[in-house]
Amino acid sequence: MNNHAVEINDLSCHFGSFKAVDRISLTVEQGEIFGFLGANGAGKTTAIRMLCGLLIPSGGGGQVAGFDILKQSEEIKKNIGYMSQKFSLYPDLTGRENLNFYGAAYGLDKKQILARTEELSNRLQLAEFIDRPTLSLPVGWRQRLALAASLLHKPKILFLDEPTGGVDPVFRRKFWQILYQLAEEGVTIFVTTHYMDEAAYCQRISVMHRGQIILRGKPYDLIEQHRAANLEELFIDLIRGRENADA
Ligand SMILES: Nc1ncnc2c1ncn2[C@@H]1O[C@H](COP(=O)(O)OP(=O)(O)OP(=O)(O)O)[C@@H](O)[C@H]1O
Ligand SMILES: [Mg+2]
Repeated sequence: MNNHAVEINDLSCHFGSFKAVDRISLTVEQGEIFGFLGANGAGKTTAIRMLCGLLIPSGGGGQVAGFDILKQSEEIKKNIGYMSQKFSLYPDLTGRENLNFYGAAYGLDKKQILARTEELSNRLQLAEFIDRPTLSLPVGWRQRLALAASLLHKPKILFLDEPTGGVDPVFRRKFWQILYQLAEEGVTIFVTTHYMDEAAYCQRISVMHRGQIILRGKPYDLIEQHRAANLEELFIDLIRGRENADA
């Protein structure tokens, strides 16, 4: 078992002749907040699904939480939390009912689910809406519930695929405060976002384009190296440059 939370080498996913993920390699340290960026269709969700043991890679390999992506996907699932890009809670159930369902799916008993729900409800400030049908909730609250569901089994690594898409700035700030607290406790956060203010909160980022990682580093080092005004400008210039070169 190595010390990296995530270590992948030449990981690829092909759909027929299309290379959705094309030989990406990276490491993420324990307790790090790693921003996994890229334009729409770059291959981020596909890569995350391979890291979570949900999609079999076409090539390459690696480890997540010390477990082999190719051979130990069940172990990986037990040790990670995953918040998918698509809202994954049952809309007709209340937040509490959803947490009961997910807790049972993670193998927790009723007592554990009750204790953990109470803990997460306090921590993520869910009390106000936990007993309302999920469908009726504003996006920011729904996303906080989805985060709670992904944390029920105390995972070591959290994979968050655009967790704040469509969420207002105040809720986004609150969400990130929670992520910071989790990271301080040693949870590794692997997060995708299209918001560059959020990318700047990450310790390190990578940028994907057409299945490949084309940039990586610490946000402020990258801004300086590329003499960009900010991360947004750097990202846009980089992707536009690639698009023009590909045209
Ligand atoms: N099951 C599939 N079969 C064929 N192509 C797929 C499949 N899943 C994804 N793709 C394609 O792979 C590419 C990468 O998709 P992916 O969802 O990983 O991108 P993304 O970086 O997460 O984009 P977004 O920011 O829009 O969420 C896209 O062109 C997508 O259409
Ligand atoms: Mg995606």
